[in-house]
Amino acid sequence: MKNILAPSVLGADFSRLNEQIQKTKEGGAEYLHLDVMDGAFVPSISFGMPVIAALRGCSDQCFDVHMMVQEPGRYVEAMKKAGADLICVHQEACTHLDRTIHQIKEAGLKAGVALNPATPISVLENILELPDMFLMMSVNPGFGGQKLIPYVLEKIRSLRKILNERGLDKDIEIDGGVTLENIRQILDAGANVIVAGSSVFQGSVLENTRAFMEILG
Ligand code: DX5
Ligand code: ZN
Repeated sequence: MKNILAPSVLGADFSRLNEQIQKTKEGGAEYLHLDVMDGAFVPSISFGMPVIAALRGCSDQCFDVHMMVQEPGRYVEAMKKAGADLICVHQEACTHLDRTIHQIKEAGLKAGVALNPATPISVLENILELPDMFLMMSVNPGFGGQKLIPYVLEKIRSLRKILNERGLDKDIEIDGGVTLENIRQILDAGANVIVAGSSVFQGSVLENTRAFMEILG
């Protein structure tokens, strides 16, 4: 599985977004992680389609849109129009998860399913073959700059084992509290798409991105 860095723009300086995104690109980050929050599924509100559409003009990175939104199926077409390449929805936010995954795939986009830290991976049992990616939240979603919850590494390990046993070649993304100190443990557990907000955007964005890329290979 290829390792990929997905810098989370939530950690960026919003007054210098374009400039900082260019640095992540220059450093080798293939994805850009875009956190959409509705103030209902999570306490905070971030940004939505207009911001994503504006950034689309600045970057050809894969736009990995993390929908922290109730019933995200309502926004699949609008997100596609704004420039999403991959839409990741929370199992906890979808009444009809199977339908929502199909909606995303039928729109011609990659689909991801996210789980909050406390949600067991057993909820994925019947849909393991459907999405392209599984996102394991390693913090309670809503804010950047939190500390990684260690038991999530065990969830990643178990999920990778199940996917391997079934011959399923799927991405596992981790999101929350990732640092240059814990990244090796995370890769070892079986995650291969790495979201990093504060640890990329605090300090030199280019140097931080390069430091991650050196480890991700
Ligand atoms: C949190 C978001 C994350 C966040 C990660 O709810 O989903 O993507 O930006 O930020 P860090 O890497 O600072 O924990
Ligand atoms: Zn996120």
